[in-house]
Amino acid sequence: MSLFMHLNSTKTYHARFPVDLMTECTVCETLAHPGTPTARALGITRPYGALVGDFLRSKGLLAPGCRVLELGCGYGSLMEGLLRHHGDVVGRAFMADLSPRLVTRQRERLSGVSPRALHVMADIHELPFRGGAFDLVIVNEVAGDLDTIVGVDASAMPGDLSSIVEKYGLETPTSGPFAFNLGAVRLVEELCVLSGAVFLSEHSSDPVVPASMPYLATGLAVDSFPRRIPLSGHDEYTVRFSHLEKVARSHGRTVHTGPLIEVLGLEPRPSWRFIFTAKACSTEEQALIGEFLDHVREYRWLLIS
Ligand SMILES: C[S@@+](CC[C@H](N)C(=O)[O-])C[C@H]1O[C@@H](n2cnc3c(N)ncnc32)[C@H](O)[C@@H]1O
Repeated sequence: MSLFMHLNSTKTYHARFPVDLMTECTVCETLAHPGTPTARALGITRPYGALVGDFLRSKGLLAPGCRVLELGCGYGSLMEGLLRHHGDVVGRAFMADLSPRLVTRQRERLSGVSPRALHVMADIHELPFRGGAFDLVIVNEVAGDLDTIVGVDASAMPGDLSSIVEKYGLETPTSGPFAFNLGAVRLVEELCVLSGAVFLSEHSSDPVVPASMPYLATGLAVDSFPRRIPLSGHDEYTVRFSHLEKVARSHGRTVHTGPLIEVLGLEPRPSWRFIFTAKACSTEEQALIGEFLDHVREYRWLLIS
């Protein structure tokens, strides 16, 4: 076992401190509504929550009367966009978060939106729901916040971690210490019991880029293990999506995955290739596009059904 092995937990940070999502540049807040500078630069005309709803509907996962749970809802932007644009098919909406301040903010944000959401203060690591309670669970940009074991020596893994790796046939590096998304793996195990379908999106350590934008792979590590993302007051880790896929498949589930850019329904423009590859911009709009592409190219979506 590595001398430096430890558990990265963001629980104290999220439960006790004010969370500022603007410092974290979440895709959800960057595209919270069509008037944000980045949404305008990209030509996005619907809020992120509506785009996620469009995507889920296109996959047949927003069926009339469905019971939807969102975990780790931040400022409530995703659920607001989803309910305003797809509320006709949502029978019941539930929102769970660890942060008391954010639960209050989510309640205020969603108060006038129909159908009304039910708000729960809960830790994803100890969810208080029964099996089969939901038709769809949304976990947007949260998996990297969950418990991550850091500094694991692949040749001397602790017994409980080694059992998980063997049980699901998870790949590990051949040398050097690595980080393991224990909380995300445990969450997927639980969601396979709790819900009919799951939509999860996050920064990945094994990203895939859209076929229409191959230049986004330039300089991108596409088969790596979770990387630390230092943020204000806490650290997050990128998520190894291949591990989550294997866990869900072992539970008899069907899994689909791809680049988050697909969910945004972006039609890439020729100028984007130049902005991205030349790292050149002459306007603020081009700078926003370049920054966003560089950020979002690491993100993936995962659908479990
Ligand atoms: C990076 S923010 C993402 C917020 C939102 N989903 C978005 O996409 O903008 C992470 C969110 O997950 C919540 N969170 C983090 N750890 C959690 C846990 N263990 N249980 C429940 N919520 C958690 C935080 O309070 C915050 O609302």
